Amino acid sequence: MKILAYGVRDDEMPYLEEWQKQNPDVEVKAVPELITDETVEWAKGYDGVDVYQQLPYTDTVFEKLDSYGIHNVSLRNVGVDNMNPEAVKKYNMNITNVPVYSPAAIAEFSVAQLMNLLRRTKEYFHKFDRNDYRWAPQISHELNDQVVGVIGTGHIGQVAINIYKGFGAKVIAYDKFHNPELEKEGLYVDSLEELYKQATVITLHIPLFPETEHMLDKAAFDQMNDGVFIVNASRGPLIDESALIDALDSGKVAGAALDVLEDETKVFNKDLTGKNMDYPEFWNLTSRENVLVSPHTAFYTDVAVKNMVQYSLSANKDLIETGTSDKLVKF
Ligand code: COI
Repeated sequence: MKILAYGVRDDEMPYLEEWQKQNPDVEVKAVPELITDETVEWAKGYDGVDVYQQLPYTDTVFEKLDSYGIHNVSLRNVGVDNMNPEAVKKYNMNITNVPVYSPAAIAEFSVAQLMNLLRRTKEYFHKFDRNDYRWAPQISHELNDQVVGVIGTGHIGQVAINIYKGFGAKVIAYDKFHNPELEKEGLYVDSLEELYKQATVITLHIPLFPETEHMLDKAAFDQMNDGVFIVNASRGPLIDESALIDALDSGKVAGAALDVLEDETKVFNKDLTGKNMDYPEFWNLTSRENVLVSPHTAFYTDVAVKNMVQYSLSANKDLIETGTSDKLVKF
């Protein structure tokens, strides 16, 4: 059995080699290149491919895989928003993802960034660099004094809720699907409007679907409390970036922690030292003292990367051996 793993980074290799030792019946070849209309040809003769990329998977990639008789595609990440569901169905692809590689990695990072926002650390560090060691005017806020509105109560949202409760914050939550435990605790509000009305912090932990794109738009910001804080470590397009910029200008939003951006594939996980890039919203947001932008790094821990590599390879092996997997994505 042969698997070709695309887009493999150096930091993933030890976990891939460890899995390979535990599964000597499988031959895994790793290449650093992403799967594209051209590199897909390298998969000829393999039984499955293991992939990760933020760039879109083109329809041609699936068409070519189908023509080589390969229908087993395992993602090393969770999000499937960069593939066309129609193409997946048309070419009979079996796609697996890694739905739970480390919810804590993302939840902990989003809480840490909120703490940085509330305690205004970016401003203090900048003052410090200028030899200005005064306190004022950066009076900050306490997490235990916030009403944290968690949108999305899946694996990551639930871990975030537990951390926030530990800090003594009041937590409210919104999700179309209610978790029975959280339901018992009475954490759910009935509508997003209600969450916007009550929350002093709003944190997003939902996937990107056509219906969630730009869920935080001008109309949503208008319903929120003045001085609300926004945290997004999910998907950039959940927020309309121009509406966020207007809301920051007006003071409606007091600060934002953004691990993801609408057009992040232009910038994140790339070395653009000395290069100019055409992304006005990126420059606008990153220049603000009350906005923390990080390069989609919330997931990036040793625990998460190990699980992403090893769970995805096991899922690919399952697909090849049995035609299915407990990580099969329903499109
Ligand atoms: C995902 O798992 O879908 C993520 O967002 C993390 C990815 C950038 C590796």
